[in-house]
Amino acid sequence: MDNFEQYLMDNLPKAKSFHPHYEEALGKMLIAGGKRFRPKLVFAVVESYEPLLLENSYPVALGIEMLHTYSLIHDDLPVMDDSDLRRGNPTLHKVYDEVTAVLVGDALNTEAFNQVANAPLNGDVVVKLVKTLAEYGGTRGMVLGQAIDCHFENELLTIEQLEFLHSKKTGVLIAGSLKMGAIIAGLDLVAQEKIFNLGLKLGLLFQIQDDIIDATQTAEEAGKPTGNDEDKNTFTNLLGVDGAVGRKNELIEEINSDLAGFNEKFRENLMGLVKKYLV
Ligand code: IPE
Ligand code: IPE
Ligand code: MG
Ligand code: MG
Ligand code: MG
Repeated sequence: MDNFEQYLMDNLPKAKSFHPHYEEALGKMLIAGGKRFRPKLVFAVVESYEPLLLENSYPVALGIEMLHTYSLIHDDLPVMDDSDLRRGNPTLHKVYDEVTAVLVGDALNTEAFNQVANAPLNGDVVVKLVKTLAEYGGTRGMVLGQAIDCHFENELLTIEQLEFLHSKKTGVLIAGSLKMGAIIAGLDLVAQEKIFNLGLKLGLLFQIQDDIIDATQTAEEAGKPTGNDEDKNTFTNLLGVDGAVGRKNELIEEINSDLAGFNEKFRENLMGLVKKYLV
């Protein structure tokens, strides 16, 4: 187990009470795993620009992972995507009940900000991190994307609208993770914006890959049900799998050339993640 995974296991949300399964349910989807892609983005920046702060960034990375995990738990509920499998495990509403899944999502959302607020970093940095997570994980970010995704199910969007939807639902939290790494590492505002813009392309690439996974992989390979997005606005539905792969390759090229403006370690770290998860 790597150090961050150990940190996560040691810092699962705790809530002792006489409730028979609430505390266990809080940790279940975090323990189940997943790629930890957003934490890895934070570390890719911090390791490249301020490696001495790597461990101090763990609570921030865990906070982002908690917020992301809450979004998945709610995404799987019957009122949204109605999925039975997540991260290779039965979803929370299947293991327990819908009430538990809703409330665990609520709890992980607030616990995310608690983690970030308690990170051993300079106070000004912590405030900026809290604001950034709120900006991209909430009202005008991921939640807006989910709202559009669900509302326009069964209604075809244009490619521009689809890119807007993807950028909100997935892109801004991914870009925000890179930006939070840049804030921790003390990069200036110009560099933060540059890294955020790179992150938007990476986020779009990530959601296109997620759509391709839905269209081409088995549930066993993906660890979640696939073939579920037929009525959804996805890249594969609008452009076909080949068109989606074409757009993906374009984005990889763009990311590769944008990376010229960053240090070698970061270029290496980021392309390593692209190759591992997105090719
Ligand atoms: C899935 O996210 C939902 C999207 C935003 C595309 P991930 O693909 O990062 O899921 P995990 O964390 O690895 O389970
Ligand atoms: C969900 O997108 C993105 C979130 C913000 C949770 P999807 O519905 O495509 O995610 P999966 O495919 O279920 O992981
Ligand atoms: Mg969904
Ligand atoms: Mg889903
Ligand atoms: Mg999907």
